[in-house]
Amino acid sequence: MSIVGHSFLSSNDISVEDINKIFTRASLFKREYESKGRIDHLVNQGSLGQKVITLIFSEPSTRTRTSFQMAALRLGLRVVSLDNMAVSSMKKGETIADTLRNVAAMWPDIIVARFNDDIESYDVVKNSKIPVINAGIGTHEHPTQALLDAFTILDSRGQIEGEKVLIVGDVLHSRVANSNLILLRKLGAEIAYCAPIEFQPKNDDWADVRQFPDRDEAVKWASVIMGLRIQKERHMGAAGSIALTVAAYRDKYRIGGDQLNHFQQDGILLHPGPVNRGVEFSNYVLSDSRCKVLNQVTNGVFVRASLLSFTLGLEVKEA
Ligand code: CP
Repeated sequence: MSIVGHSFLSSNDISVEDINKIFTRASLFKREYESKGRIDHLVNQGSLGQKVITLIFSEPSTRTRTSFQMAALRLGLRVVSLDNMAVSSMKKGETIADTLRNVAAMWPDIIVARFNDDIESYDVVKNSKIPVINAGIGTHEHPTQALLDAFTILDSRGQIEGEKVLIVGDVLHSRVANSNLILLRKLGAEIAYCAPIEFQPKNDDWADVRQFPDRDEAVKWASVIMGLRIQKERHMGAAGSIALTVAAYRDKYRIGGDQLNHFQQDGILLHPGPVNRGVEFSNYVLSDSRCKVLNQVTNGVFVRASLLSFTLGLEVKEA
C-alpha cells in the first residue's frame, strides 16, 4: 500500500517503491534548490491549495522540527506549530493524547508529532483519520530520520544495497536505531552493532543482528558508521539509573582518530544528532571529511519536503 494520504509511523509502513520515489523527488528538490534557490515553482499551486500542516512537539528538538518547518515553507505550505508546551493547555494538565485529539479535530492536512512513550497517544495517532508523521516517538521509532540517513548513504556512497552499516552506542534507547534497522535492511544493507551491555537492544527485531564486542574489529568491517547519542534522559528506569560512566563508555566505544585509521578511506560516518562531542565521536572525527553529520541535516530538509509533498499527493513537476 502507498503512503499517499496515510500515516507514516514506522519504517514498516513504507514500501521500497515509495522510498525510491521519495528519494528521486528529494534529489530533484536538492538539485533545484542548489541551482535556483527555490523549489515551490515545482509544485502545482492548484494541488497545494490551502493545505496546512501542524507540528506537535512535546519533546525537545532542533533538527526534526526546524527541518519539517523549512521543508513545508519551501514547498509553499502553511504551518501551525505547537512546540512550546509551556504555553499550551498541557500546562493546565491536558494530556498529550488529548492535545493530539484536539488538534486533529481542527482538520489539518497532516500532523507531524513527537512525544514520549505513551500508549494512549500512540493509539490516537494509530487510529487518526488525519495522516500523522512520526517525528520521534519515545524509544519506539523515528522513521523520517531513517529515511534521511538512507538518503545520505545513497548520496555519499552511490548505493544502499550491500552497505555494511555499523550502529554504535546507546541502541537500547534509540528510536533512530529501530527505524534504521527496518528501513536499511529493506533496502538491502547489512546491519551490525557495537554497544556496552547496558545499551544492547532487547527487542526481537534485533535478535539476529550481528554484534561486535570489539570496537576496532567492528570499524574494520563497516562501510558506514552510525553513532548514536547517549540518551541520559531515558536512563532512569524502574531499576534505577544506568551505572556506566561517560569515561568508561568513551574508553571502549567512542569513535576517535585511532578508529578512523582502521576505517575505509571512502567510508562515511553518520550521527542523528545532537552529538555529545567527545563522547560518541571525538572532535577530530567530527571534522573528518568522511563525517556526513551536517550533510544529513541538509538532506533532512529535502527528504522531508519530498515526504510531505508525497503524503499530501501534491503534483510536482518531476524534471
Ligand atoms: N535527529 C533528531 O531527531 O534531532 P532533534 O532531536 O534535534 O530533532
